Amino acid sequence: MNGRRSLRAELAPLDEEFGAEVLAGLSREPKSLPCRYFYDARGSELFEEITELAEYYPTRAELAILRDHAGEIAARVAPGAVLVEFGSGSSRKTEILLDAMPGLAAYVAIDVSACALEGARSRLEARYPRLRVITRTGDFRMPLDLPAELAKAPRLGFFPGSTIGNLTREEAVGLMVDMRRALGKEPRLLIGADLRKDEALLLPAYNDARGVTAAFNLNLLARINRELGADFDLSGFRHEAIFDARQSRIEMRLVSLRGQEARVLGRRFVFAAQERIHTEYSHKYTVLDFQVLARRAGWSPVAVWRDAELLFSVHELIAP
Ligand code: TRP
Repeated sequence: MNGRRSLRAELAPLDEEFGAEVLAGLSREPKSLPCRYFYDARGSELFEEITELAEYYPTRAELAILRDHAGEIAARVAPGAVLVEFGSGSSRKTEILLDAMPGLAAYVAIDVSACALEGARSRLEARYPRLRVITRTGDFRMPLDLPAELAKAPRLGFFPGSTIGNLTREEAVGLMVDMRRALGKEPRLLIGADLRKDEALLLPAYNDARGVTAAFNLNLLARINRELGADFDLSGFRHEAIFDARQSRIEMRLVSLRGQEARVLGRRFVFAAQERIHTEYSHKYTVLDFQVLARRAGWSPVAVWRDAELLFSVHELIAP
C-alpha cells in the first residue's frame, strides 16, 4: 500500500484547491467545509466502519435490493458493455453486479481516494481474473475518456450509497447531467437514493452510539490540520446531526463548544461558543421526488426497486 508521502505527492495538485475551498468555506457566514474532502485514507476507513454500524441502515438495505434484483438489472445490459462506478470506494456493492454480468468489457472505478482504489483493484483482479479493471483517481465530475477499443461500448453508470443525496437539489441535477454526458450514446444509470422516513430511524443513522460518525465528521478538521498545517483543537468541537423536515434532509455540522480560534494557511478564524460549521447534507427522497429530479437532468426513469422495509431505493434511468 502507498505510504503517506507518496499518496500526498500524488494528490499535490489537489492540495491547493483543498486549501482554497477550506478558506472560502470558513470565510462564509454561516461557516461551512467542503464535504468532498471527507474521504482521505482515514476518512475512507471510518466510512467503511459507518457502513457496518447497526444504526446505519442504507448500506444493508441497498445491498439487499441489489442482491434481490441483480438478475433483472443484468438482463437489460448488453454484453460488451462497460460498467462505470462514480465514487467507488471499496467497490463492495459492485461485486453483486459483477457476479451477475460476466460479459462486461471493463469495469471503470472512479474515486478521490487512491488508497481505496488500489485496495479495490487488487481484490477485484483476484476475484475476477478475466475482468478488465480501470481505475481513475479524482473527482468523478471529470470527463471520462476510455481507451479507444472501449470508446464505443455501451456504458452503465453506477452511483450507489445515496451519494447523490449529499448534494443540494440543484447540484444533484447538475451532476446527473454530467453523468449522462459521461455515459455516451445510450446512457443507462443505476443510482441509489435514500428514502424519506421517520426521524426515529434517520437520526441514529447519522449519530451512532459508538461515535464512529462523530469521528468521521471530526476527521475533516484533523485532515485540515494534517494537510494544511492548521491548528484546530479537535476536542473543542462536537458532531451534530439534525433532520430538516422542510428540505427533507439530514444536516451534519461541527459545533464549537466554546469561544476559540484556529489558524489555517496563515489566516485566523474565530468561532463563537455554539457556532456551527456546516459539513454535509444527506437528502431523503420519495420515489416521486427523485424521479422529478432525474427528469430535470434529462433522464427517463424506467425502474425502481425498494427493500422490504422501504428504507432505500435504487432507480434505473435511461436517456433516449
Ligand atoms: N452518502 C452517505 C449518506 O448520506 C454519507 C454519510 C453517511 C455521511 N454518514 C455520514 C457523511 C456522516 C457525513 C457524515 O448517508
